Amino acid sequence: MNIQIRQCDITTLQVDAIVNAANCSLLGGGGVDGAIHRAAGPELLEACRPLGGCRTGEAKLTPGFRLPARYVIHTPGPIWHGGTAGEAELLRNCYVNCLKVAANFGCRSVAFPAISTGAYRFPEEAAARIAVDAVRNWSEPLPEVVIFCCFSERQFSIYKKLCKDEIIRN
Ligand code: APR
Repeated sequence: MNIQIRQCDITTLQVDAIVNAANCSLLGGGGVDGAIHRAAGPELLEACRPLGGCRTGEAKLTPGFRLPARYVIHTPGPIWHGGTAGEAELLRNCYVNCLKVAANFGCRSVAFPAISTGAYRFPEEAAARIAVDAVRNWSEPLPEVVIFCCFSERQFSIYKKLCKDEIIRN
């Protein structure tokens, strides 16, 4: 498993799958969800409608449509309620279930945003540790490359500190 840290807009990445920090309706929203739907075009929402939503921590795949990525893997992260409502476990489930879906669909490269760290207010450092730990403990052959797509300098430095011996790419 090759882990890469990049500071970029996830909608620009030419990878097999990008992960969308969605909500349980899967009918779009703001943040990275909004950016992905804008870049993918209206077909993405049409592809999400029949999925019937998605539970927190679970993951569902659609085509990427106008995105450079082949697929979008939608996963609703947990809303932060202070850390005593199983948020860590649910966030870990997001990463593990997205990796499972990616492997099942033969994805060799997957890019994650920092799930739940925006509107859902999960503390960034704790979320990054959960993300890196879940990916590092993934032992299946696919995906071969996982990119942590950081949207801010602060996020980029958090991930760089956690992954100092992995490839750091801007
Ligand atoms: N590329 C990469 N990362 C991005 C992008 C982008 N284009 N846009 C935002 N981000 C980052 C944010 O900076 C944040 O670190 O994605 C992370 C997740 O933030 P949100 O998008 O707010 O997602 P989340 O905290 O999981 O909240 C999900 O917000 O947008 C709604 O429909 C969504 O209801 C759901 C909720």
